[in-house]
Amino acid sequence: MPDVTDPLLRFRDEFPILARSTYMVSNSLGAMPRTVPERLAEYTEAWATWGVRAWARGWWEMPLTVGDAVAPLLGAAGHEVAMAPTVTLAQSAILTALDFTKGRDTVVMTQLDFPSVRYAIEALAPKLGARVVVVPSDDGISIDQQRLHAAIDERTALVCVSHVLFRSAYIIDADALCAHAHAMGAVVSLDAYHSVGVIPVDVKRSGVDFLTGGVLKWLCGGPGGCFVYASPAASERFAPALTGWQAHQRPFAFEEQMAYAPGITRWLGGTPVVPALHAAIDGPRILAEAGMQAIREKSVRQTAQLVALADARGYKLSAPRDPARRGGTIAFDVPHGAEVAQALLARDVVIDYRPGAGIRVAPHFYTTDDEVTRVVAEIDDILHTEAWRAFEGNRPRVT
Ligand SMILES: Cc1ncc(COP(=O)(O)O)c(C=O)c1O
Repeated sequence: MPDVTDPLLRFRDEFPILARSTYMVSNSLGAMPRTVPERLAEYTEAWATWGVRAWARGWWEMPLTVGDAVAPLLGAAGHEVAMAPTVTLAQSAILTALDFTKGRDTVVMTQLDFPSVRYAIEALAPKLGARVVVVPSDDGISIDQQRLHAAIDERTALVCVSHVLFRSAYIIDADALCAHAHAMGAVVSLDAYHSVGVIPVDVKRSGVDFLTGGVLKWLCGGPGGCFVYASPAASERFAPALTGWQAHQRPFAFEEQMAYAPGITRWLGGTPVVPALHAAIDGPRILAEAGMQAIREKSVRQTAQLVALADARGYKLSAPRDPARRGGTIAFDVPHGAEVAQALLARDVVIDYRPGAGIRVAPHFYTTDDEVTRVVAEIDDILHTEAWRAFEGNRPRVT
């Protein structure tokens, strides 16, 4: 029975999969809002009815109109957020906007940033005359904030780090980081894929220069909808070399020379991914209605519940114990973890598994407390009955 005292559970009916499964994997793919088929039908209907004229009926502007739906979730104003196809591309574009030839030639990253972003930045940086300094982690869970600050010096042009670390859900203090980096004269670009939608983010309070994320996970908006925030000052000061015609002041004049549009428009690229943007709208709207403060309070409560259940069984935790530093996902290692994870999936308890971290459980605003206890009760049963043995030798399923 849903907990009637939890007002966020009123949103459960918006997500059909919740009626069928214990869905604890919003750190990977958020549940689909029931209205997404209507949005996609609007897309096909427009294409079928208007053909090429659909561009003039909203398609062309969609990276900005959908960005406006995401903006309140990070404390941004209208027309400060643009949609982008991937975070890796968005972070790469930001890198190409900086000039590394004027004495500042360093990009600071951390060992626990998402590898895709590091692959791109580490490949691009030397071509742009920059070097990358990677701040190590001692425990594989956290990055020491003082160590991160100490790596930022007068050679640092850009600090490009995750806000919440994907592996452990450790929260880096964005306000302190921005204050320190700015005092040192460096620009900050946060990868907020694991913060926007599960913890309150306020770009105005932190003063961050750039912030990227995606609607795929916590924002329940499906694949293909990533976003980039650029502060108005950053848009005045910088323009990306990795660009496209949507960023031009007069894209349909097809001029030979680039003339960057003002503001957030200059961070757009080529032709927008229109179907993905249709799917991306409803999730962020529902989350904005639910309210980030309420979502965060519930997340802290349910992740604490998971920590207590894991501790009671002696499972090794790969997540911060301090709620102030803990994001939305709890990972813990159980015996025969890969097989147990597959047994859970077979029982429609949807989680994911990462070697080294263990089973990752991500309650979200639509999760009941009973579902949280059910995950661990099912693990108990799978271990007790040895149901995990049915999956011995199977390759872990990727979710
Ligand atoms: C922190 C973080 N950054 C970036 C990504 C993905 O980036 P992209 O949109 O380039 O696939 C993920 C995906 O899991 C992530 O966890």
